[in-house]
Amino acid sequence: MVAKTIDLLVALPIKQKNVVVINLKQKYNMIYANSHMTTISEQKSNLLEQFNKTRDRTLKLVETLEKDDFIVQTAPFMSPPKWHLGHVSWLFEIVMSKTTKNYKIYSQEFNEYLNSYYHQFGEPHDKDKRGTATRPTIDQILEYFHMISQNVADILQNELLDDKTKQLYFMAIHHECQHQELLVYDLQHLLASRYRPITTNPLPTPSKQEPKSVKIDGGLYSMGYSGNQYCYDIELPEHKVYLNDYKIDVFPITNGQYIEFMEDGGYNNFRYWLSDGWDKVQNDKWNAPMYWEKVDGVWMTNDFLGKRKVNPNESVCHVSFYEADAYSKWAGKRLPTEAEWEKAACWDEKTQTKTIFPWGDKQPDINRANLLESYLWNCTEIGAYPNGKSHYGCQQMIGDVWEWTSSEFTGYPGFKSGFSEYNDKWFANQKVLRGGSFGTPSISVRGSYRNFFRLDERWLFSGFRCAEDI
Ligand SMILES: [Fe+2]
Repeated sequence: MVAKTIDLLVALPIKQKNVVVINLKQKYNMIYANSHMTTISEQKSNLLEQFNKTRDRTLKLVETLEKDDFIVQTAPFMSPPKWHLGHVSWLFEIVMSKTTKNYKIYSQEFNEYLNSYYHQFGEPHDKDKRGTATRPTIDQILEYFHMISQNVADILQNELLDDKTKQLYFMAIHHECQHQELLVYDLQHLLASRYRPITTNPLPTPSKQEPKSVKIDGGLYSMGYSGNQYCYDIELPEHKVYLNDYKIDVFPITNGQYIEFMEDGGYNNFRYWLSDGWDKVQNDKWNAPMYWEKVDGVWMTNDFLGKRKVNPNESVCHVSFYEADAYSKWAGKRLPTEAEWEKAACWDEKTQTKTIFPWGDKQPDINRANLLESYLWNCTEIGAYPNGKSHYGCQQMIGDVWEWTSSEFTGYPGFKSGFSEYNDKWFANQKVLRGGSFGTPSISVRGSYRNFFRLDERWLFSGFRCAEDI
């Protein structure tokens, strides 16, 4: 493991007119990407290339949208596409403002509208009212997007950056990738099958699989990121946890399995539910995963593939933590902790080593996992990715659906914040999900990556697999 101590920019901004200045503070042991980059050509082939690819992918996601599509917000939890385009550009502007002398923020109006939740940069616009703003217009946002792309590309092409600055640009690239996934959630809510992706590939059709589980020996497990590429502060530090022996499902829970729970009165029996979850079921009249509807006695869903009969062999998707937990209780099982999930995904018992992904250290590709660049726009059936299986034989741990775990989202022992107001301001009332979904860009996910959502959220591509004590 290559770890280095670097200074990170901790945002303690001093507002001077419209200029946001950053103080250098705090040191943190953090593995950061490509510390060996010492020449402009290395920087270009790495940071600049990653930046260009990311910006291109964002534009491709919105290439076929009509102008009106950019403006509308169809639910308080989603954001209009134009906001995502502006916000990811705004974060690059914040990085430039912190690292470029005498940088002048482009527009105070943009700064306020495009700020998500960073109080250090002023009072953000209300999230649930992003769709009520007709200004800045989509044309202005696109102009801003291209201007920022040009400015950042000029910097990455011509200035040899120090490690701290490179780290911030990498963070902003990864941030944009996270927003690509959020944009995909929002496009499904906004348009469903009326969205016309510029690339679509056919779904694989695996042979029928039966649910099964594998036994995993307990003991001390070293949890957290162990590689030498980019990772977030919340994946560190690697630390030991003790696990009892356990069993974990080979596949995520399918729609067919979930329908059995529903048909057995799962949504009508308080005994399966946490108290807050039961309140949610009652108040919001939940009786199925989000986007499902019963038509003439048949469960239908409405997603990128259209309004269609629920496929019993696909992973169940759009369930909250409460639903995943209730199903597990009904099945006589439980959700795995994130340490159990990670060990099942990344630990190789034979060699006594941990890998970055279930299949090893190689980056994901379309033969191993259903991620955004697979461009399938849906979950696959279980058994579709035998090449992506973990050392223990667990399948589809990366891609398809994010998997709820029973773990609270909080800092690992010894956690040090890398960026103020970024990940760690959410260390309360959230559960950890692992593994990525069909909307996750491949550079955003690793075996150690920790996503987090509130317990009642289900607009993301979220499913689960169960574990059992032995
Ligand atoms: Fe953001």
